[in-house]
Amino acid sequence: MRKKVTVVGAGNVGANCALRIADKELADVVLVDVVEGVPQGKGLDILESGPVQGYDVSITGANDYAPTANSDIAIITAGLARKPGMSRDDLLFANNDVVRTSAEQVAKYSPNCIIIVVTNPLDVMTQAAFWASKFPKNRVVGMAGVLDSARFRTFIAEELKVSVENVTGVVMGGHGDTMVPIVRLSSVSGIPLTELMDQAAIDRIVDRTRNGGAEIVKYLKTGSAYYAPSASAVEMAEAILKDKKKVLPCSAYLEGEYGIDGVYVGVPVKLGAAGVEKIYEVRLTGDEMAMLKKSAASVQEMVDVLKQKQ
Ligand code: LAC
Repeated sequence: MRKKVTVVGAGNVGANCALRIADKELADVVLVDVVEGVPQGKGLDILESGPVQGYDVSITGANDYAPTANSDIAIITAGLARKPGMSRDDLLFANNDVVRTSAEQVAKYSPNCIIIVVTNPLDVMTQAAFWASKFPKNRVVGMAGVLDSARFRTFIAEELKVSVENVTGVVMGGHGDTMVPIVRLSSVSGIPLTELMDQAAIDRIVDRTRNGGAEIVKYLKTGSAYYAPSASAVEMAEAILKDKKKVLPCSAYLEGEYGIDGVYVGVPVKLGAAGVEKIYEVRLTGDEMAMLKKSAASVQEMVDVLKQKQ
């Protein structure tokens, strides 16, 4: 039997997730959105690419969750982008409502699924989905580290004029200004990055990675990135659907790892059929640990704001 993936939110990220899942023939997809017609229209359009692209999956759109029943995975992309005059907290509250409702509905119709959260602010929204779904922590995971690492790897490959496939990079921490690219653990086919690049180039790339989302927003003006974010979410979905046991940086619920407790933060995890099957506790230097703690504290701050409101 084919696998089934629900994609909540038929905007740019959601629609591209659906398209990539179809292109890779990973699963049937149900695209859910509150806007009438949009998930149905985009779903049908993707379905009609099937004969040309050569995939046999069903793609449907819906405005309610009944058709999502018994999904293996739900990718939550729904949420608002920040509008002029909106504070960070306004966005936090607005998206919290969207993510909470989505996670509740997903959990009701697919009690055994694994939830991948993409909505920003990423780590906090993953925590909101964790609370709302009442799922165990291994079945709620956030997408950010894969995207941040992809950007880091892209810039390194560009600088060194080598294949992106040879570049490994780990970005830990929250998905925001405080993310922590671990330069020490980055390499090009095993050759440490620090032997290939001077510190000034490394600093420039780290900085560009931290601002990778904003760089795209600046170009697009009216929206944020969606090609690389959808590619990243689908890599995670594929690892789970195929039980690949991929080791990827993802936002995971920490309970004492790295001395951080009760908050979602980006760390290397093993992704397989059970979701987050293992959290890797890498030995960090003092500086790296300090940056990770600082990043976790900024996530915790927003989590506290949400808790106060509830
Ligand atoms: C980014 C935003 C969407 O990093 O989080 O592109």
